[in-house]
Amino acid sequence: MSQPLLTLDFLDTPTLPTPAVDAATHAHEPSGQVRVQAATRTGKSRKLYIESYGCQMNFSDSEIVSSILFEQGFDTTDQLEGADLVLLNTCSIREKAEQTVRMRLSQINSHKKRNPGLLVGVLGCMAERLKSKFLEEEKLVDLVVGPDAYRDLPQLIQQVDGGQKAVNVLLSREETYADITPVRLNSNGITAFISIMRGCDNMCSFCVVPFTRGRERSRDAHSIVQEARDLVAAGYKEVTLLGQNVDSYKWASEDGSESVNFAQLLERVALVSPELRVRFSTSHPKDITDEVLHTMARYDNICKYIHLPAQSGNSRVLKLMNRTYDRPWYEERVLAIRRILGEDCAISTDMIAGFCSETEEEHQDTLSLIDFVQYDMGYNFFYSERPGTLAARKLADDIPLDVKKRRLQEVIDRQQLHARARYARMVGRVHQVLVEGRSKRSEEQLSGRNSQNQVVIFPRGTAQKGDYVNVLVTSTTGAALIGEIV
Ligand code: SAH
Ligand code: SF4
Ligand code: F3S
Repeated sequence: MSQPLLTLDFLDTPTLPTPAVDAATHAHEPSGQVRVQAATRTGKSRKLYIESYGCQMNFSDSEIVSSILFEQGFDTTDQLEGADLVLLNTCSIREKAEQTVRMRLSQINSHKKRNPGLLVGVLGCMAERLKSKFLEEEKLVDLVVGPDAYRDLPQLIQQVDGGQKAVNVLLSREETYADITPVRLNSNGITAFISIMRGCDNMCSFCVVPFTRGRERSRDAHSIVQEARDLVAAGYKEVTLLGQNVDSYKWASEDGSESVNFAQLLERVALVSPELRVRFSTSHPKDITDEVLHTMARYDNICKYIHLPAQSGNSRVLKLMNRTYDRPWYEERVLAIRRILGEDCAISTDMIAGFCSETEEEHQDTLSLIDFVQYDMGYNFFYSERPGTLAARKLADDIPLDVKKRRLQEVIDRQQLHARARYARMVGRVHQVLVEGRSKRSEEQLSGRNSQNQVVIFPRGTAQKGDYVNVLVTSTTGAALIGEIV
């Protein structure tokens, strides 16, 4: 996904080399970024303005919501001014994420005071977590809809049109929106998301997602492959398969004659077209199998990049986090990646600094794990207690904020050291790059990514968006590779 019309950074934690405006956005990243989604103009009578927060599941869901509402006579607009319906697709992952949305809501509410006909709705993870509290506290919210209830939107909007408030935050065990063709709002026409599963059954003790998104369920494999085919037919060159834990994807046909695991799904999508790059996110260290790694190795068009969040480098802390693996297990998975896919395969992580009772030595273990893996990229956060989670109920949030922040900075610094080295080792080599568009730094430069998901910038020559080009990398900024087409 790329080319947001508007990107505001609300990062509660700085992350890795910030690849400035040419940044590739990452499929898993709950960065706190907000994107106003692009406009579709087909002359429908009402206008929907939708903003998405949080992870790419939310961005992908906004495309489903737009599709459902398109059928109901809504075009999307990228201007708040003139919109008839404003939807915020919200994130609860950390307190800061919720604060950001609340601030935005109050801005929108003052806009509503000047435009009394405007309808305002809250979707996504905060809707699920706070339910009807929104209607009580934020008197100007008309609509609250949880992640599994989007099919109910037309009926709920009717209710609101009739002068009532409307809420549906029921979670489902089956809903995968498999039959809904998303309106590709988040796309540059080259890269797209395909949501392959919903929910999460893992119950990591710090995490609110199992509560906001409900039980894990996998989408029909045929509908996923069909979506990839349709995207290829429409000229797309890259798909990212999305799920909180893609390695536990498991789908079986109703008569039981066919069952598909993640490695098999990955292979089916890779076979759709050799011209289609396939990415996926997120991999859980407890589930990623050698079969998945061998499948990646077999297909050139499966990108050599794995987001493998460790959260901590210390086994006691991992146990408290209920991650169900320990440090030796994680290290072994990294060695398996290196064995099967080689040194070039990029690995990224999420780390939480200052989790409940984490000692200074245990924090050092996180730093030493970063040294062990030499991550290409990292998304790092300090621990933020979430109401209702296992950790909030059972563990004391006892690391002072200044200590959390200092540890986080040490994690970031260590990670950047390795990321810069990982960029530097790519200099002098030729990379296959999928051109995603013009570099925002210069009209004359194009920007794309290599298989490892590193941003590559080069003079445009005759290349076009959507082309695969070979680029000899001659230097690095530490956050992007610079080169020329050969
Ligand atoms: N399913 C993914 C993670 C989704 S949430 C996985 O298991 O890897 C994205 C990231 O947010 C997590 O990996 C974690 O690092 C961070 N996160 C989740 N809850 C958090 C909390 N309470 N405080 C700080 N960071 C948190
Ligand atoms: Fe949250 Fe853990 Fe599920 Fe990831 S695997 S979404 S961190 S509960
Ligand atoms: Fe994603 Fe945030 Fe929900 S990270 S799953 S939008 S809590």
